[in-house]
Amino acid sequence: MTKLRAAITGINAYLPDFILTNEELSRMVETSDEWITTRTGIKERRILKGEGLGTSDLGAPAVKGLLEKTNTDPLDVDMLICATVTPDMQFPATANIISDKSGLKNAWSYDLNAACSSYIYALTTASQFIETGKYKKIIVVGADKMSSIVDYEDRATCVIFGDAGTATLLEPTTEDFGVMDSILRSDGSGRIHLHQKAGGSVKPASHQSVDAREHFIYQEGQAVFKFAVTNMADISVEIMKNNGLKSEDIAYLVPHQANLRIIEATARRMGIKKEQVMINIYRYGNTTSATIPLCLWEWEDKMKKGDNIILSAFGGGFTWGSIYLKWAYDPK
Ligand code: UT7
Repeated sequence: MTKLRAAITGINAYLPDFILTNEELSRMVETSDEWITTRTGIKERRILKGEGLGTSDLGAPAVKGLLEKTNTDPLDVDMLICATVTPDMQFPATANIISDKSGLKNAWSYDLNAACSSYIYALTTASQFIETGKYKKIIVVGADKMSSIVDYEDRATCVIFGDAGTATLLEPTTEDFGVMDSILRSDGSGRIHLHQKAGGSVKPASHQSVDAREHFIYQEGQAVFKFAVTNMADISVEIMKNNGLKSEDIAYLVPHQANLRIIEATARRMGIKKEQVMINIYRYGNTTSATIPLCLWEWEDKMKKGDNIILSAFGGGFTWGSIYLKWAYDPK
């Protein structure tokens, strides 16, 4: 029997209008454009403003645009996975809400949370469903309203994150394109360095938890940095080795955009030149589940059919992983 692979056949993104610049942040907390730029590479990030708006309001416009762009009937979509760490609410799943808002009446849907690795976990999961032959059209949403869990009094975290929504369409192909391989890992002992203290079943929301500002991101930056550099580089090198890929075989590295220094260290270890690395952290910061698809969307006009692409991420959990992708279409 011919092997089915899951090919990305379309990608779209939605960015909220409001731009929060380093200058603006330096009026809110004790920081500077110089510190943020040299330590992280970030210049500005987008923020979803407006009462009653959540992650589904980032994901649904991305999905609607994707359907239009790829000429896809919403009723033909079999499944939607929403990669997010900032769901609209504890339940129902944000994927259910996005499907409703986008008219996906025949799709089943659920959320997947692997923090900053959520997109590559979801892409791998979706590709397995495609490979069974049962599902023909799956949308992976990578969306996060990080501003909803960022403490704008904590200068160590508020400068890093931004909001964005993305949607990726996966379809089966018998050609040798699409998701070729993936390596995913997790180590929950890393949770002490990066987590949200309250709002879950261990510590439900209370007056005390709100007063103690425990519904925001808690991050020990330096500790996370060390793990991120080592693990993202190691796993990227591992997937290259497993697939017999040399640095010159790779058209693009698409790293999670957490810190420019982590990206550069990963590229160095892989022997990849800066021109081959997709970097847009300057404009969007760390949008968690949306960073990698935001890059793919911005570079869509440059990628060619057959390009070898490595996706790599590291995030809370800890979670990390890498995907080897063969791009499936030429610029339109
Ligand atoms: O995406 C999920 C995974 N997350 C990551 O990969 C993030 C990994 N970590 C990082 O990217 C970096 O650790 C940060 C960007 C978070 C921080 O950069 P750093 O170079 O590790 O800085 P640091 O935490 O070691 O802080 C250095 C100094 C400290 O001051 P002292 O103690 O030396 O006086 C901080 O208080 O910089 C201070 N600082 C700031 N100063 C100005 C921390 N944040 C700021 C700020 N502006 N925004």
